[in-house]
Amino acid sequence: MDGKGRNHVTSASHLVALILFAFWGAVKARALLNEDYTCSSCGKPNIVMVMCDSLDGRLTFHPKNETVDLPFVNLMRKHGSLFLNAYTNSPICCPSRAAMWSGLFTHITESWNNFKGLDPNHTTWMDLMEKHGYYAQKYGKLDYTSGHHSLSNRVEAWTRSVDFLLQQEGRPVAELVGNKSYVRVMQKDWKATDDAAAWLRNKATNLTQPFVLYLGLNLPHPYPSPSSGENYGASTFRTSPYWLQRVRYEAIKIPKWLPFSEMHSVDYYSSYTKNCTEKFTEKEIRDIRAHYYAMCAETDAMLGEIISALNDTGLLRRTLVVFTADHGELAMEHRQFYKMSMYEASSHVPLLIMGPNIKLQFVPNVVSLVDIYPTMLDVAGIPIPKNLSGYSLMPLVLKQAEDKVPTRKQHPTWILSEFHGCNVNSSTYMLRTDKWKYIAYSDGRSVSPQLFDLSADPDELTNIATKFPEITQYLNKKLYSIVDYPKVSASVEQYNKQEFINWKQSLGQNYSDTLANLRWHQNWKKDPKKYEDAIDRWIKEKTNL
Ligand SMILES: *[C@@H]1O[C@H](CO)[C@@H](O)[C@H](O)[C@H]1NC(C)=O
Ligand SMILES: *[C@@H]1O[C@H](CO)[C@@H](O)[C@H](O)[C@H]1NC(C)=O
Ligand SMILES: *[C@@H]1O[C@H](CO)[C@@H](O)[C@H](O)[C@H]1NC(C)=O
Ligand SMILES: *[C@@H]1O[C@H](CO)[C@@H](O)[C@H](O)[C@H]1NC(C)=O
Ligand SMILES: *[C@@H]1O[C@H](CO)[C@@H](O)[C@H](O)[C@H]1NC(C)=O
Ligand SMILES: *[C@@H]1O[C@H](CO)[C@@H](O)[C@H](O)[C@H]1NC(C)=O
Ligand SMILES: *[C@@H]1O[C@H](CO)[C@@H](O)[C@H](O)[C@H]1NC(C)=O
Ligand SMILES: *[C@@H]1O[C@H](CO)[C@@H](O)[C@H](O)[C@H]1NC(C)=O
Ligand SMILES: *[C@@H]1O[C@H](CO)[C@@H](O)[C@H](O)[C@H]1NC(C)=O
Repeated sequence: MDGKGRNHVTSASHLVALILFAFWGAVKARALLNEDYTCSSCGKPNIVMVMCDSLDGRLTFHPKNETVDLPFVNLMRKHGSLFLNAYTNSPICCPSRAAMWSGLFTHITESWNNFKGLDPNHTTWMDLMEKHGYYAQKYGKLDYTSGHHSLSNRVEAWTRSVDFLLQQEGRPVAELVGNKSYVRVMQKDWKATDDAAAWLRNKATNLTQPFVLYLGLNLPHPYPSPSSGENYGASTFRTSPYWLQRVRYEAIKIPKWLPFSEMHSVDYYSSYTKNCTEKFTEKEIRDIRAHYYAMCAETDAMLGEIISALNDTGLLRRTLVVFTADHGELAMEHRQFYKMSMYEASSHVPLLIMGPNIKLQFVPNVVSLVDIYPTMLDVAGIPIPKNLSGYSLMPLVLKQAEDKVPTRKQHPTWILSEFHGCNVNSSTYMLRTDKWKYIAYSDGRSVSPQLFDLSADPDELTNIATKFPEITQYLNKKLYSIVDYPKVSASVEQYNKQEFINWKQSLGQNYSDTLANLRWHQNWKKDPKKYEDAIDRWIKEKTNL
């Protein structure tokens, strides 16, 4: 229970009015602002970036707030630029963040799974900003360097092309805790939010240099499920009645599922390993989705704390606020929860930018998280290196194009997302351009590709790859020109096998026992020899996809 949090949340509309006033002030004071911009010491805006985990980006514009009220996302939408087509470059925590912090595609940094991200010494955009005079401060979840996440997580990724099928995750469930005054459900995130807000109030106001603040949140990622045994994953959608009352049950859409016989083989593998192939009642699905939306509302309130701190301190008019997420959450769409998929719910991220000289608009262009790196450098006036995978978004969001920045390049009309980790038994590559989403797998031949027309089929239920072979071929060629994906898939497979062999050797006699007790233990123990034999056969196979 927390009265302070509640007050801030319920006073959102009040704050909208106040901030409107503040922005009016900023417009009237434009002459002054322009003068500011010519002053070398105070010319650069501050930057505050809030990055949450697992927020389906479509919720920032669709279906508006019919299902859930997100007052601070709405506030940013009313005062800044909202990207309608922003994507993750790899729909899983660590590889996605690795792309965001490095400005480089996943296959370039070889951030293959949650265990393998960036080297800890990699130079991030924040490091560069610090070098160029910004005061840099981080709070909360970072998760972009190698060496983290559970053992199960990495072994599942390494063994994804072994010829077996095992349930790895707990069955997704909805859980209600506390009562109508229980606000701070995700306490760790609230602590990080409090720390960041306190830093803004106490420290940022007194800085003589511009600052960049990063707040990483874990919400609305589902919570761990200890009930599924010793090695559990996170499949519990937990919230309190306080947040659930923000959700309108009547408006919740029950996603349509394809019959098993029509599912793509890789989707079936995902659904099975995520323990979603058994029966779910409509009530179970509705509850999971309702809880997920409520978790998004709690996330929104954390964003609100930061915006309130900026407004209270008068920093807002000199600060660029960015809100995004590492990836989305399927919340039972396509018979799955979690991410790891190229479907919209998983790959589409929120991206909102508001602040001085930022247009009030919806931006239709396709963009992705690698664009954050050059955007931040652009804001800070740091030359943008040539070899980045992303492009500055500033030309898309600035009210008045300021001086031409020679190192800026125009964003292409496509984005690339790729996935090489667990719960998907083939490397996956997604090219999004205008209304098309093209998804290629593995070597491009052994697994059939998918093509969706998002304008006609927003739920992505009809694969039209064979119906439109010219478009499929054209997009495949385009994809191939961006990344030699069969080669990447082969090197991931080689990496997986080598890492697994090294791990096996390190365990010596403990190997069989350790293997049997990973997250898949319930299934494994029914026939341990069969599964170990499948691994042995896989180790012996030559690595040619
Ligand atoms: C969302 O709902 C609230 C009230 O429930 C309303 O005040 C607000 O204007 C709505 N916002 C949008 C963007 O529809
Ligand atoms: C980072 O550390 C690795 C060794 O862990 C080293 O090989 C690499 O050169 C370092 N990179 C930079 C940019 O310092
Ligand atoms: C998978 O779901 C089934 C019920 O559908 C459940 O009995 C089982 O415990 C779940 N497996 C795991 C690993 O949680
Ligand atoms: C809600 O729960 C808290 C903590 O358990 C308790 O102190 C409070 O009285 C409860 N409020 C209501 C309205 O039941
Ligand atoms: C910030 O600066 C003001 C005056 O410049 C001073 O009164 C105040 O104590 C400072 N606050 C902190 C936290 O240093
Ligand atoms: C992935 O798993 C599914 C389900 O077991 C299977 O049908 C398919 O052949 C597998 N694909 C690859 C590339 O291993
Ligand atoms: C927001 O900023 C405006 C302008 O500085 C100020 O008048 C107002 O009190 C602030 N609102 C809050 C809640 O601090
Ligand atoms: C990109 O270029 C910079 C300097 O031009 C260099 O330091 C860096 O290593 C390059 N990165 C990659 C991934 O090629
Ligand atoms: C095997 O397990 C035992 C008991 O847990 C432990 O003492 C030993 O160090 C392990 N050996 C290896 C090679 O990990």
